[in-house]
Amino acid sequence: MNPIITLLPGDGIGPEVVDAARQVLAAVAPNLEMQSALIGGCAIDATGSPLPEETLALCRQADAVLLGAVGGPKWDDPAAAVRPEQGLLGLRKGLGLYANLRPVQPHPDLLSASPLRPERLDGVDLLVVRELTGGIYFGQPRQRREVDGEIQALDTMVYSDGEIRRVVRLAFDLARERRKKVTAVDKANVLESSRLWRQVAAQVAAEYPDVVFETLLVDAAAMHLLTRPTDFDVMVTANLFGDILTDEASVLTGSMGNMPSASLGESLNRLGKPRGLYEPIHGSAPDIAGKGVANPIGAILSAAMLLRHSLGMADEAQAVERAVEAAITAGHRTADLTRDGETALSTAEITEMILANLNA
Ligand code: IPM
Ligand code: MG
Repeated sequence: MNPIITLLPGDGIGPEVVDAARQVLAAVAPNLEMQSALIGGCAIDATGSPLPEETLALCRQADAVLLGAVGGPKWDDPAAAVRPEQGLLGLRKGLGLYANLRPVQPHPDLLSASPLRPERLDGVDLLVVRELTGGIYFGQPRQRREVDGEIQALDTMVYSDGEIRRVVRLAFDLARERRKKVTAVDKANVLESSRLWRQVAAQVAAEYPDVVFETLLVDAAAMHLLTRPTDFDVMVTANLFGDILTDEASVLTGSMGNMPSASLGESLNRLGKPRGLYEPIHGSAPDIAGKGVANPIGAILSAAMLLRHSLGMADEAQAVERAVEAAITAGHRTADLTRDGETALSTAEITEMILANLNA
């Protein structure tokens, strides 16, 4: 049985980085069957929907999904009836992917590519576990209404104890395979949903006496991520906080273009592994789309996570990660990572370098 992967290139630089990741997957696992489908703005243009039925069906049939990015200025009108991002949110919800794993591991040779002081970054190895199908992203009601002659808009931040418990448990399970420390991040001094989050996290922590547990308010966490990033192992947090903190954390790696992610849930594929969604955390980057200069490393490392988590191909995953590391060690950089005087490689060129290291 050949594993089936659905590719969702999406918008902006999505197609360029997914194509790079596809080449790497084909090289390391020639038996994969890959099929492509539409999502986001290009799906709106073609079908009127950011997540066509056919796309969702192809994702449900697949053993794993690899996505590029969605969105762009063409579809940004706040008054538009449909938005590209609804496609991604609908897919996460539709596949029940409640946990988003975002590892942050700066390559030692890229410390100087970050605006932060290198001595702060040396040894950073953290994993943010972001809740992905709840919180203010999905809470009801969300609406506009007229109140006393004014337009009012509202969103709802809501969590149930079960939603919190399952993602916090996953964070603790992952911590057990790492440095055995979990930091739960919330805004419990203000938000009721965060107070529940903190209570449930403490209950789960009691099930894991071998794992160190601490809590941190999200505003402090935003600062501590920059001032003492090496202190963190696994950070678990709500959907919105995780969205914000992981863009911030990407600065530790030198570029957002480097960061992969895996979204996992209860649904299992034909191999008995999670039917995951894998995507770089960067967006569609419309300013550089179509120029062939995007950094494909986030997408390629997402493909490595796909091999590991959804296909059980740990050796192949490690081969991809080593090939990326070796390309960086050899000095190959896309434009987001070069400094004065360094030559920037195109997406195709750095992908060639990574492919070459794969076979080395
Ligand atoms: C991310 C992105 C998405 C999110 C957008 C594109 C909807 O920022 O994956 O971090 O907010 O989750
Ligand atoms: Mg984001």
